[in-house]
Amino acid sequence: MNLLVRFIVVAAAVAFIVIAGSGTHADPAKPTDKSVVQSDPHGDAKAVGSAGCSGSNCHGGAPSDKPADMWKSSYTAFMGHDKHTQAWDVLNNDRSKEIVKSWSHGTQKDATHVWQCLACHSNPTLAMADNATPAVRQLQSEGVSCESCHGNASKYLHAHTGWLQSGESRLGMTGLNSIDTRAHTCAGCHVGAPADPVLGLPLRDVTHDMIAAGHPRLNFEFASYSRLMPPHWWERDRRTNDADHAKNVQERSWSIGQHASAIAHLRLLDSRLNSASAERWPEFAEFNCYACHHDLQPASWRRELPKLTPGSLIWNRPGIRSAAGPLSAELDAVENALAKSLTTKDSSPHKAVVKAVRQFAAGQSSPAAAFLNLTDAEWQNLDWDQAARVYAAGVAMAQSKLNNPEVVAAIESLHCKLKFTNGIDSPAKYTPAKTRDKLREFIKMVR
Ligand code: HEC
Ligand code: HEC
Ligand code: HEC
Ligand code: HEC
Repeated sequence: MNLLVRFIVVAAAVAFIVIAGSGTHADPAKPTDKSVVQSDPHGDAKAVGSAGCSGSNCHGGAPSDKPADMWKSSYTAFMGHDKHTQAWDVLNNDRSKEIVKSWSHGTQKDATHVWQCLACHSNPTLAMADNATPAVRQLQSEGVSCESCHGNASKYLHAHTGWLQSGESRLGMTGLNSIDTRAHTCAGCHVGAPADPVLGLPLRDVTHDMIAAGHPRLNFEFASYSRLMPPHWWERDRRTNDADHAKNVQERSWSIGQHASAIAHLRLLDSRLNSASAERWPEFAEFNCYACHHDLQPASWRRELPKLTPGSLIWNRPGIRSAAGPLSAELDAVENALAKSLTTKDSSPHKAVVKAVRQFAAGQSSPAAAFLNLTDAEWQNLDWDQAARVYAAGVAMAQSKLNNPEVVAAIESLHCKLKFTNGIDSPAKYTPAKTRDKLREFIKMVR
């Protein structure tokens, strides 16, 4: 596992100071925007639990070094090393107790009974189970387990004695071999997603109220997170058995991940805008954190950046902010519509958002290099989020050049500049001036 990518994850949280949450938060809002509903004939498949996968002749065998035998011990490998196995346990820790207490104004104590938390910290399809039976509680307590990614198994469990091909015959098994499907699956929890009644999925939304109550900010980049997740599979193209698939999977993952994350972000934004109760809008988590949060010192970097005039709300748009980047016109349109909607009551950004989702879904993903033609002014405006995203793109591009000591040194040095100082869960010590040139050089090096 590449330790260098850890920072992105560690850095995902900002100031973790628990204060009483303010503002209102919507209760079980179940938006049903037709544009986000996908059709799946097996959306009604039920969860059976990981015990269904763990047989020693199935996926619960002893670990093997042979890639082709990985499938025999996928269960063992996952249960032994994957952080997802703790997703439920963290709901029982002190941090979660503080989060739900502040966020619910003291009306909730136990995060394992709060559907808004279960939605991502266990199998999402079970989160809304009313009056959960002991059997359902047992399944929930597996946390983010096999079926949360691979799909509920009631229909495929017995039919599946080999790899299921695409189409109907998959019987509800998610086609994770497609990097695109994989990225969308991860983004559902790592970015968030509107409710999907057809697939029985609840709203998955980390709001500013949750962040203010102590939840880490979600800061997902698919290629980095994929590197960080211990593989319990043999990475190859399952249709052709082509192992070359694994070679450039990093760079492709970055590009495909940008697409999938942007779509997830836009769909979530749309559901926040459309919520009937209007209690989910304006949602502070949609806006640049540094517009409102900065050090109370004149020297704060957040005040140095020309675009970040304190108080001006800038949309925290997905991906790298670059006018020359693919589909940036669509994102500009959303940004402008959002800005307008904050001042004019009858202006809705919905149309611009739907158009952008359509363009992203129809368009091909572009290579990382295409996003990195930043202008001087864009380099000048490099806040921490933007710098971290450029860095992640560079690291994905650098995967084939890791035998070059200069590249490795540049990665390490930038990693130090971007990571949070121990004990402070925010980029308080980040200095744009010191990071900018190094980052620019690094991108030149890996192009
Ligand atoms: C949209 C999905 C989503 C929702 C909703 C959500 N979480 Fe999380 N949570 C995550 C993800 C993803 C992480 C890991 C963040 C990372 O490392 O990037 C996380 C991390 C955490 C952590 C830190 C865990 C650690 O290992 O340090 C805690 C605690 C937590 N969540 C509690 C909660 C509670 C309590 C709720 C309900 C109020 C909740 N979460 C709602 C997705 C979610
Ligand atoms: C966080 C998401 C996630 C979870 C949770 C998860 N997997 Fe996977 N799994 C993947 C991905 C991604 C792949 C790669 C898919 C591919 O290449 O077709 C995969 C592949 C596999 C494979 C194919 C192995 C091979 O080399 O042929 C098996 C078997 C498998 N998983 C079983 C499990 C089992 C059993 C569990 C629960 C104990 C589990 N998975 C939990 C994401 C997940
Ligand atoms: C059902 C929701 C869900 C799905 C789907 C999901 N994750 Fe997660 N993931 C979580 C939660 C919740 C955590 C936090 C667990 C914790 O901190 O204990 C997490 C943690 C992680 C971590 C560990 C981060 C750290 O702090 O070390 C990685 C890496 C990760 N996920 C990658 C992935 C990838 C890659 C996929 C897709 C193949 C994926 N996840 C799919 C919910 C999900
Ligand atoms: C429109 C202004 C605004 C934006 C944008 C904003 N916040 Fe806040 N934030 C506030 C206010 C006001 C509070 C205090 C009241 C509350 O808890 O909601 C707060 C409280 C917090 C807290 C609680 C700790 C503390 O220092 O009081 C955290 C953590 C936090 N915000 C993180 C973020 C993150 C991360 C983002 C970006 C995703 C963000 N905020 C975006 C206005 C904002």
